[in-house]
Amino acid sequence: ASALDVDVSKVPLGGEIRILIGGKPFFVRHRTPSEISAAESVNVSILPDPETDEARLRPKADGSLNKAILVTSGSCTHLGCVPVGPSQGNTGDYGGWYCPCHGSHYDTSGRIRKGPAPSNLPVPNYRWVSDSVVNIS
Ligand code: FES
Repeated sequence: ASALDVDVSKVPLGGEIRILIGGKPFFVRHRTPSEISAAESVNVSILPDPETDEARLRPKADGSLNKAILVTSGSCTHLGCVPVGPSQGNTGDYGGWYCPCHGSHYDTSGRIRKGPAPSNLPVPNYRWVSDSVVNIS
């Protein structure tokens, strides 16, 4: 297994960085305040794969959450294409990511909202190793 330290201070507000770990894609997104509130204000019971935004964030060592930073897998849960996102100027109908292969739309928490993908973009194993660095594995 491989792992990577990512300095999240390098991720532009409203943008993302795309990384490969062991050949697999991951996204590290720096969410704007409105993207965070969009993620938090969803009625979870209407979601195809119900998960709160908070459940998709990992706390820092002191127990606090940095809600601005979202870490997800970059593999669409339908058939594994890599969705487009802010890096490509297309965040889909729910402001998160869009998979052009068959039209799956993910929200600003990486949750599936529309299209054939059956489940949310998985949150990988990651931990905060400092205030600005996450280790993703
Ligand atoms: Fe993403 Fe089919 S692989 S919608």
